[in-house]
Amino acid sequence: AAISTKPPLTVRLCAPRGFCAGVDRAIQIVELALEKFGSPVYVRHEIVHNRYVVDGLKAKGAVFVEELSEIPADHHDRPVIFSAHGVPKAVPADAQSRQMFYLDATCPLVSKVHKEAEIHHKRDREIVLIGHNGHPEVIGTMGQLPEGTVSLIETEEDARRFQPKTDRPLAFLTQTTLSVDDTAGIVAVLKERFPEIVAPHKEDICYATTNRQEAVKAVAPLVEAMIVVGAPNSSNSQRLREVAERAGCRISHLVQRATEIDWAAFEGVTSLGLSAGASAPETLVEEIIDAFSQRFEVTVETVRTADETISFNLPRELREPAPMAA
Ligand code: F3S
Repeated sequence: AAISTKPPLTVRLCAPRGFCAGVDRAIQIVELALEKFGSPVYVRHEIVHNRYVVDGLKAKGAVFVEELSEIPADHHDRPVIFSAHGVPKAVPADAQSRQMFYLDATCPLVSKVHKEAEIHHKRDREIVLIGHNGHPEVIGTMGQLPEGTVSLIETEEDARRFQPKTDRPLAFLTQTTLSVDDTAGIVAVLKERFPEIVAPHKEDICYATTNRQEAVKAVAPLVEAMIVVGAPNSSNSQRLREVAERAGCRISHLVQRATEIDWAAFEGVTSLGLSAGASAPETLVEEIIDAFSQRFEVTVETVRTADETISFNLPRELREPAPMAA
C-alpha cells in the first residue's frame, strides 16, 4: 500500500457554527413561497448574506432586487420577500401602496429589536443604536422610527464623543450580530457617561452570534490557524474571524469557498480551527474539509461549547395549505 506523504493536520470544528434559526427560516420562506406560488418570487436584498444560498434560490426561480421599484409593474401580484436582516418601515408601506403581496423573512430576533425601538420612542426616550453603519439590519432598525430619531454608535470612541440630541432619558439597542466583547466595551462607556441609560432587558446580540463567538474563542487557543466560512458582507462572520485573531490565531481567514483558500498561508500548519457564519451552509464547511484532505492527512474533532434547539415559526401565509381549485 502507498504510504501517505501528506502532512498531518488536526481540524477542530467549532460547534455551534453555521446556520442559525433565523437564516434557516428565511431560506425556508423563499423555498415554500416558490413551491406555493411558483416562480418568479421576488426577494428584496440577499435573503441571507451568502452567495451560494442566493445562487441556489435563483436557480429555483427567485429573483433578487435591491429595491421594490425594480420589480416590473406587471409582476406586482408576485410575492416579494423581505430579507432576514429586516427592513425600514417605509418598505412594507411602499409595498402596500403598490398593492404588492409581501412576505416578511425578518428574523424574529431582529423584529424584537424593532419593537424595543418603538417602545422606547413611545416612552419618550432618546435612542442610541450600537451597530455598523450601512449594514441592512442597522438601516432597518433605524428605519423603524422617523429619520434622525436614532443615533448610531459604532465604536468606544463614538460612545465617548456622543452628545444626546435632547434632554430626554436615554436608551440603547444593538445590532444582533456584533462582537460580544466590543459591544461590552461600548456599553461600559455609555453607562459610565450616562448611568441612567436604559439597557435591553435581554441582550440584543442574538444567541447564535454569542454561541458562535464562544465556540471560536474556545478553539482558537488550541490551533495555529482558523478558517471562518462566510461572506465578506456578513457581519457575524467577520466578527468570528476577528475573535480568532484576537484570541491569538496567527492566521485567521474568512473564505466563501474552498477556491479562496490561500494555501501558502497554511504551509507547515498542523492544527486548524474551522467555523462558519450564521448564513453559511454546512456543505461549504465540508467542501473546505475536503480541500484540506487533498493536501493533508486530516483528523477531524468537534469542540462543542453550546447546544442549540431554537427554531422559529413560519409566517401564517405559508403555514396554510394552498387554496383548493374550484
Ligand atoms: Fe436572527 Fe441571530 Fe440569525 S438575529 S438571523 S438568529 S444571526
